[in-house]
Parts: sequence; C-alpha cells; structure tokens
Amino acid sequence: MKNMMKLALIAAMAAALAVSSTAFAEGEKIGVSMPTKDLQRWNQDGANMEAELQAAGFEVDLQYASNDVQTQLSQVENMIAAGADVLVIAAIEGSSLGEALDMAAENEIPVIAYDRLLMESDAVSYYATFDNYMVGTVQGTYIVEALDLENAEGPFNLEVTAGDPGDNNAKYFYQGAIDVLQPYIDAGKLVIPSGQLAFEEVATPTWATETAQTRAENILSSNYADGTNVDVWLCSNDSTALGVENALDANYSGTYPIITGQDCDIQNTKNMIAGKQAMSVFKDTRTLASQVVKMVGQIVNGEEVDVNDTETYNNNAIVVPSYLCEPVFADVNNYKELLIDSGYYTEDQLQ
Ligand code: BGC
Repeated sequence: MKNMMKLALIAAMAAALAVSSTAFAEGEKIGVSMPTKDLQRWNQDGANMEAELQAAGFEVDLQYASNDVQTQLSQVENMIAAGADVLVIAAIEGSSLGEALDMAAENEIPVIAYDRLLMESDAVSYYATFDNYMVGTVQGTYIVEALDLENAEGPFNLEVTAGDPGDNNAKYFYQGAIDVLQPYIDAGKLVIPSGQLAFEEVATPTWATETAQTRAENILSSNYADGTNVDVWLCSNDSTALGVENALDANYSGTYPIITGQDCDIQNTKNMIAGKQAMSVFKDTRTLASQVVKMVGQIVNGEEVDVNDTETYNNNAIVVPSYLCEPVFADVNNYKELLIDSGYYTEDQLQ
C-alpha cells in the first residue's frame, strides 16, 4: 500500500512537471508569415510550422500574403499589434519589410528569417534556411556529370533560368551552379545560343511558372526553331523548371534536354518519373520547420540558440547568425526513398 502511494505520488509529480514544461510555452504567441499559397512548398512549410509549434504548446498566428508585399507588411504589423512574442517570416521581397521590422525592434520582438533572408535591417535575430549555395552546386555538379564534361568535347547547348531578383536566395542558387559550370563555359564545352547568362537576364520575377514559360518560348523560337538541340536547361527551382517543361512540350521537337530543379514539387516529381525533369533538390520542409521550432523554443526559454553559420549571410546591415540545413540530391532513382518512404508524399499523390 505504501509503495502504491509512493508510485501515485511520483506519477502525480511527473504529470505536474509535464504540465509545467508545456505550460511554459503556453500563452507565447508566434506569428508565422508566409509568402504565398500559390507554390506548393510554402503550404507545406506553413502547415509543418503550425503543427510543430502547436505541438510544442505555442499559440500560432499563420498568415499567407498572396505574393503581395503590401499585404505581407500589414500582416506582420498586425501580428505585432496582436502581441506576437516571436516572428517567423519568409519574405516575398527581402528588402521590403523594413517598417514592420522596425516595429518589431521597438517592441523587442525577436525575428527569425525563414528560408529567405530579410535584408537591410538589424532587427533580424536569426536566419534558418537550407544551404542555398549548395543547392546550386548540386545542380551544377549534376550537369557536369550527366554530360561528362570532364571528358566530352561538346559543345553542348545550355540555357539558364534563375529565380526572383527580390529573393536573396535566388543569387545563391544561381552562383552556386554557375561557379561549377563556368570553367566549361570558358573552355567552350558549354555554349549558350540565346546569349543570356547574366543573372539579370535569366531571372524570373516572383518565380512564376508562366513567366519562365514565356521566356523559354521566346528562346526556343529565336534559337532552336531550326532543329538545333538544347542539351541542358539549368533551372533554379521546380516552379521555373515547370515553365520550361511546358514551353518545350509545345514548342520543341529536338532531343529532350537535361533539366534541373529544386523542391521536389509534386508535378515536378511526376515529370521526373516521366523522364521530363532530370533531377531536383529535396529540401525537407519538416527539417526546416523542426529547426525553427527548436530555435523559437530556445529564444523563449532564454537559452543559447542553435546556429551553424555566423559568416555567410550579411543582409547589408548585419551578419545574421544562421542555421543551414542540408539540401539533398533527388532523381528518379532515389525519389521513392526520399519522398515516399519518409512519408513526405503518398504514392497516390505522385500518380
Ligand atoms: C526557396 C525555394 C523556392 C523558391 C520559390 C526560394 O526562396 O528557397 O525553395 O523554390 O523560393 O518559392
């Protein structure tokens, strides 16, 4: 009997402890600002963040800004006015949230830049992302290997489609890939029939599939209508790769090019299975969400915040302490393991 009472007491104490540790997060409100519902990945990011923060006992204010900078600005300001304790922001345009960030600083609200760096502000406390430069080097290295550029003479025809100039990540993706490919461009093994290689010439505002498609259609009709083959099309991510794939479907009858991407969006994964997209880069949004939730918890508890890079991400005001998750190469040979076995997608979603 005595033992039973002891056990009951221990159980009650353990329960009290469990309650008090979740209660610590209770009442803490986390504002999560996402750019758009139009692209698949942000829906996943938002859903993962919301679920994980709630599971950790936080209250969550999750907002999507329809890719409209003004909307995002007022959503973040509203989060502050509503008493957010920490802000997590994936910016539409890195430099356009200055007013809201000033307001956060005045109210001493820590800000985590989520996936995309917030620029020109010293009110950014931390940055959590995938290693953006590495995304580009993975794409570039894939092209080098797929075309055997070390040994092959070429020349191979290359076209390039990059991301949104307003997104700090876009230049990292581009530069990572171009740094790998440049020696082969210099050696004449890779040539660019459109002549468009500078970032400004190949960028895609808001990462829009339609914009990438229109540009690809123009390139195809001006440079490839005579039956010239395009051998490889470097695309920085899946939404732009999809535009290029749509353009090729309707306007091109040559040998299908090697196309790169990033995100493993459902449609692009289907295209990978169908042989239309050669590879993608998998950035498991669950990994990033878990890391950010961990950082939020550390901030709220006054603990040291987990970062692994304190040098790379200068936002033109400060170098923002960052945590970089590792992106993973994906293609038709490993997508099942990466995406289905891990529970990221069901088999049905990819039918
Ligand atoms: C993200 C990419 C994404 C792109 C378009 C970038 O900031 O890092 O994963 O493809 O935005 O949404």
